[in-house]
Amino acid sequence: MRGPAVNLVSVSVTTDGPVQSPLVSGSTVALANTRIDLLFDRYLDPRSVLRQSVCLRSDSVIPTAAEECTGGVFLNPVYNPASRTVSYFIDPGNASPILPAAVHYLTVYRGTGDELGFRAFDGAPLAQAQAFFFDVTDPGGLQPQVPVVDPTDCLLELGTSCGNCHAAQTPLGEAITPAMGLELNPTDRFLATSLRPAHGMSIGSTGNDPLARRPDRFGAGMPVIAPGDPGNSYLLYKMLAREDPAPATLAPGETDRLRAFITGAPMPPSNQLPDTRPRDEGGNPIDLQLYDNINKFIRCIGQ
Ligand code: HEC
Repeated sequence: MRGPAVNLVSVSVTTDGPVQSPLVSGSTVALANTRIDLLFDRYLDPRSVLRQSVCLRSDSVIPTAAEECTGGVFLNPVYNPASRTVSYFIDPGNASPILPAAVHYLTVYRGTGDELGFRAFDGAPLAQAQAFFFDVTDPGGLQPQVPVVDPTDCLLELGTSCGNCHAAQTPLGEAITPAMGLELNPTDRFLATSLRPAHGMSIGSTGNDPLARRPDRFGAGMPVIAPGDPGNSYLLYKMLAREDPAPATLAPGETDRLRAFITGAPMPPSNQLPDTRPRDEGGNPIDLQLYDNINKFIRCIGQ
């Protein structure tokens, strides 16, 4: 069953500073090497995160479909499911890695079954296509922005909050059977046991659901970890299924919808939550920063 339409919560571009600033049509002046960040209120179908899901060009005619985006800027998307943002970078290898100093028009498409554009992981499309415009300035000396991956992001140790169950031995050295054969610690064992379809995704809840293998369905055959591709990594959704506390920009009920999609319990199980905040500050929620760190880790190991 489909949830509600996806909403675009905010759009930001790079302005002088340089900083990311909210895009206000008619008053924002972006730097010519701008990055464009789109924040959505639902988890996206990662296959809808494409270059063709937006159109950026200086032609004031707003295209109604991706095919009409002639003369568009060549953009590369990076999706972060933990923060539900899609960042578009101007392709540095293309003819013009810096925008001409002119008004630019950004169209964000609504993805339906056949049309290119954004949709949620359960197929619900964007509420409506949206168009924005902004001025571009080139103060000179700008370099193209590129997605940055910090090598230290690869050093994340998940063991602290997961290792009691997903390891070959306890911290005291006693041999145990890792849950689902998944070892999260140390990193080499993590990579050795996670680059395979997740149990929840490959077999469905009945143990042998041929529908779950349909390649056109979100999650079908989704690996535990897809190096470099957090949007296609089941482990992250297994953790996001317990957003606690839910961020203000998350659509109401979204965590429940995600829970209906993952098999078994959100991770880590409630009785194993790491103690990250005092109880008088809302109990024992998982540290939201951890989701972002895992997102970075997955991108890093894909380099
Ligand atoms: C108390 C033990 C326990 C802890 C702690 C724990 N898990 Fe699990 N995990 C399990 C069990 C049992 C399963 C299988 C049942 C299920 O999916 O609910 C599982 C399943 C999984 C799966 C699905 C694997 C597959 O192939 O489908 C992932 C991914 C996962 N855990 C990640 C984590 C992460 C990440 C953490 C730490 C943040 C964590 N787990 C902490 C017990 C645990």
